[in-house]
Order: sequence, then structure tokens, then C-alpha cells
Amino acid sequence: MPGRVIAIDGPAASGKSSVSRGVAERLGFLFVSSGHFYRAFAWGAARDGISPEQAPFWITGRKLEVRRDASGVSLLLDGENATPHLSEATTASMVSPLAAVPSVRDAVNARLRALTAEHDLVMEGRDIGSVVLPDTPWKFYLDASPEERARRRAKEGAVDSVAERDRLDSTRATAPLTIPEGAIVIDTTHLDLEGVIEAVLGRLNAEGLR
Ligand code: C5P
Repeated sequence: MPGRVIAIDGPAASGKSSVSRGVAERLGFLFVSSGHFYRAFAWGAARDGISPEQAPFWITGRKLEVRRDASGVSLLLDGENATPHLSEATTASMVSPLAAVPSVRDAVNARLRALTAEHDLVMEGRDIGSVVLPDTPWKFYLDASPEERARRRAKEGAVDSVAERDRLDSTRATAPLTIPEGAIVIDTTHLDLEGVIEAVLGRLNAEGLR
């Protein structure tokens, strides 16, 4: 029987990762960041000097391995650990243009869906509840004001432009960032991390997640 999936979508720096990780810990589910999969490919494309136009051919030769580890999953691209490179500036500037390429999305989605065969998951991203796993009954969309999201990113020491990634992610033709049908929307602007985790767990309880 496939595992249960809690889908958490939202724009950059809306708190998705921390909230998803916290909810997964409390429920004993596996935490999966779909952004890490796009970032692993973005790192590889930058490494290989590949443009988004060349990506459809390049992606077919890539081997992305998914390993379970203490913090969720780690990713090996062509046998090399991608994890130390996921937040690098070159990765961050490549990721949204690459994520707009349909064949890249297909490659990521196949791997994300395969994870449901073996695990109960909290999966976060931009299109989990709308495209990747739309049949799950547990969908959330987290948002926060642009100012608060920029502040959170700066606090993390992140180097990329959140606003520019949001623009690209929301306007692309394939699987743009959107509020999935049936998703519970939570504005996290004035909530702390524990407050959002509690809000999600409370709704899951009310919706009958066992
Ligand atoms: O969540 P994170 O900031 O790591 O995502 C990096 C980028 O990966 C996003 O800005 C977006 O371009 C892409 N992405 C996506 N669909 C997802 C998750 C991430 O297009 N489900």
C-alpha cells in the first residue's frame, strides 16, 4: 500500500522546509524537499556547463541516486554527493531556469513519486499538491509577506534573489507555483515556527490523519 503524503507548497522562504521537517519529525514521516532534487540537477548542469536549452539531452544521461539519511534523504548525482552544493550561488542562479524545463520536471517527479511506494512522507515544494501528488488529501500552502520572506532568507545567509526566483517559478508554463485545489492556506508572516507546525498538526488531526 502506498504511503501517506502531506504536501506542503509555497514560495521561497515561506517557511516550508523548517515546517515540513518539524511536522515529519513529530509524525515519524520521512521529510523530502523537492527543491533539493532541482538543486542537485542545477549543480550538475552548472558543473557541466549546460544551459537550460541543452538540458533535455543532458538530463537523460544523469544518474540521480536517492539515499535515506538522518535528516531525510541525500542525493548523489553521477555518484557524487550533491548535498554540500545545494546552496551554492551558482546552483541557486541556475535552479529556476532549469526547473522550467519540462523534461527536468519529469525526471524529478518520477523520483519523487517513487518515494511514496516505501514511505509516509512530508514533501515540500512548489507543485506537490497540484501536480506531483494531487490525490493526497493532505495539502497545505504556506505564504508570508515578501518583506518577511526576504528577511528570513537574509538571516539564513542565502545569497540568491528570492523575488526573482518567485517571479520565474510563478510565471513558467509548466507547473507554475499555485495554490493547489483543496489546500489549506496558512499565512506565516506573524507566526513562529512552532506556531505553524502546531497549526499544520492541528488541521491534520481534524482531517483524520492517523
Ligand atoms: O525550495 P527551494 O528553494 O530549494 O527550491 C529551489 C527551486 O527549485 C525553486 O525556486 C524552483 O525553481 C524549483 N522547484 C520547483 N518545483 C518544486 C520545488 C522546487 O520548480 N516542487
